[in-house]
Order: sequence, then C-alpha cells, then structure tokens
Amino acid sequence: MASILVTGGAGYIGAHTARLLLEEGHDVQVVDDLSKGYAHNVPKGRLHIINLHDAASLDALFARHRFDAVIHFAALIAVGESMREAERYFRNNVGGSLALLEVMRRYGVRRIVFSSTAAVYGDPDSTPIPEDAPLRPKNPYGESKLMVEKILGWLDRTSGLRSVSLRYFNACGAEPRYGIGEEHQPETHLIPLILRAILTGEPITVFGDDYPTPDGTCIRDYIHVSDLAAAHVRALEYLMAGGATDVFNAGTGRGYTVLEVIRAAERATGRPVPFRVGPRREGDAAVLVADSSKLRKTLGWQPQYESLEAMVESAWQFENSRRTR
Ligand SMILES: NC(=O)c1ccc[n+]([C@@H]2O[C@H](COP(=O)([O-])OP(=O)(O)OC[C@H]3O[C@@H](n4cnc5c(N)ncnc54)[C@H](O)[C@@H]3O)[C@@H](O)[C@H]2O)c1
Repeated sequence: MASILVTGGAGYIGAHTARLLLEEGHDVQVVDDLSKGYAHNVPKGRLHIINLHDAASLDALFARHRFDAVIHFAALIAVGESMREAERYFRNNVGGSLALLEVMRRYGVRRIVFSSTAAVYGDPDSTPIPEDAPLRPKNPYGESKLMVEKILGWLDRTSGLRSVSLRYFNACGAEPRYGIGEEHQPETHLIPLILRAILTGEPITVFGDDYPTPDGTCIRDYIHVSDLAAAHVRALEYLMAGGATDVFNAGTGRGYTVLEVIRAAERATGRPVPFRVGPRREGDAAVLVADSSKLRKTLGWQPQYESLEAMVESAWQFENSRRTR
C-alpha cells in the first residue's frame, strides 16, 4: 500500500483515478481548488481544498502525510481558452506544477505521474504517433504541458526526481461503479456534447467534413476513463518498483471519425443525434491516433474497453443519472 497525493482529484480523470487507487488498497488524499472540479467526486474526508500556488497549505498537508508519490492532474484544460488567456494557462499549469514540485522536494517525495496530452504533438507528420515524434504544440495549453514535461526531465537529472508523463489522447466515458463522470464547465468534449444534443434537441456542430479522412471528419483516439485510470496505477507501480523517468502515450491506438462517434452514440442510446456541419475549426489536426505499444509493453497496460459504443454507453448512463440527481 502506498500513500498517494492526487492533485486535481475532484476533476473528471483525477476522481476516477483516486477511486481506483482506493479500491486497490492505497491511501489517497486529494488536493483540488474546486475551480473546475466537484466535491461530490471525492470520497468523504479525502478532499483538501487548496490551490497549488498556496505553498503554506500544501506544506502543512505534506507535513501531515508521508506521501510516497504524487499523481498530478490539476490544470486548466481548454485549448480554445488557452489561446485567449495564455498567461493564465502558463501561470496555472506551469507555475502551479513548479509550486507543487518545490513542496515535493522539501518533503523528499521523489515520484510523480503527470497528466500530459497529445496536444504536445500539434499536427503530426504521420499517425499512429510514437512518443519520439516531433513536439510542436499549437496552443498555450499544449505548450504548458510540454514545458512541465521538460521541467520533469531536468529534475530527473538535477535532483533524482522520477516521473512518468502520460500523454492522453481523448478521455471519455464514465465508470458506472463510481457514479461520477464528465462534467466540464463549459463542456468542449465531443461525446458529452453529442449526448446533450440528443437530450436537448439542439444540434451540435461538426467542424469540417473536408479533411483527408474516409468521411471527411476528424479522426481521434478515444480512451475510456477507467482504462486511463488504470494506466496511472500501472505508472505508479512502475515508479515504486524503481522505474526510470519516461513518457508514454495513453490511447487505444484505434481512431474514429466524428461521424463514427455520432453513429456509435445513436446505436448506444437508440436516439438520433441532431447535428449540422460547419467550417473547419482553426488548429484541429485531421488525424490524432496514438501508437500505444510502449504503454502496453513497458507498463503491461491493456484497455478493457475496446468498443466505442460501450464507451459512449457508459457516458450515456452517467449523463442520465446526472440529470436526475
Ligand atoms: N479530458 C481529456 O480528454 C484530457 C486529455 C489530455 C490531457 N488531459 C489532462 O488531464 C488532466 C485532468 O483533466 P480532466 O479532464 O479531469 O479535467 P478537470 O477540469 O475535470 O480536472 C482538473 C482539476 O484540476 C483542478 N485544478 C486546476 N487548477 C488547479 C490549481 N491551480 N490548484 C488546485 N486544483 C486545480 C480543477 O478544479 C479540476 O478539478 C488535466 O491536466 C488535463 O490537461 C485531459
């Protein structure tokens, strides 16, 4: 059993991971400022409402718990917003991470799993994308994550910090056992937007159908949030066993077009999805699919959710329970 601090653990992916860690017998404390997350996502008694920049409160928490490792999810995550408020994104995502790393150093906590993103690749030259593909973020959000990856690389060399950065592709779905799910405000992710379009009758916009893909819409790699949570637990075990600092893609390696996601949602819900096609959105790559062989081989990770329909179905269950809460 390990003692783990989960930052951003009141958010979507952090909350799923915190619960999985608890199920696997670890002791878990959550730090979140609730700027985006929800107290109801965190099991009772484990939430500490702290902003990462509040060094005194973080210090007090580290003094009370002897953490073996940190899993660091806390960040602002909206790509479009990062283009308008770049300073805020760098301050929160890079500055917040530095503040956390300084406290970890003071208390001798030497292992961290970090939420990175496929956005570090920008427009890839080819797909599936391996970890050693060129890193060319196209927005401050992706750049902020790459900057933290680089800081972690330096701290490995200068102070022996061991880290795993997981570059997530598109997280989706919900774990029915936990009764939690995706509730971003505002929501920018495709699957919850599709489900809300079904429920409200308000059509969603598909951004562009003239990409060089089989049906002209963008292709993305969807990874179920429970499989992503499991990847964090594997990464943690790897670090606890003395694993070296490394970077892994976290995706299934299978891509789906936007229209395929819409059709999967129609099958999973039995309801039509109202949508309209609009122009391309600035900055969207045509295809983003992970080469996930490194995660599978090195960490022994295997996704449980292979079918897109099952992923959407789990999100649909959550969306319905949320409305009757
Ligand atoms: N959702 C995805 O598909 C996806 C894809 C790639 C990467 N990521 C990364 O995964 C992580 C989690 O994403 P998510 O979808 O769960 O987002 P989320 O917004 O649901 O969770 C992030 C949490 O961090 C908290 N937070 C933000 N800044 C903070 C600060 N300074 N101090 C304390 N708490 C703070 C928020 O309140 C929120 O609860 C993020 O780092 C994100 O960049 C997500």
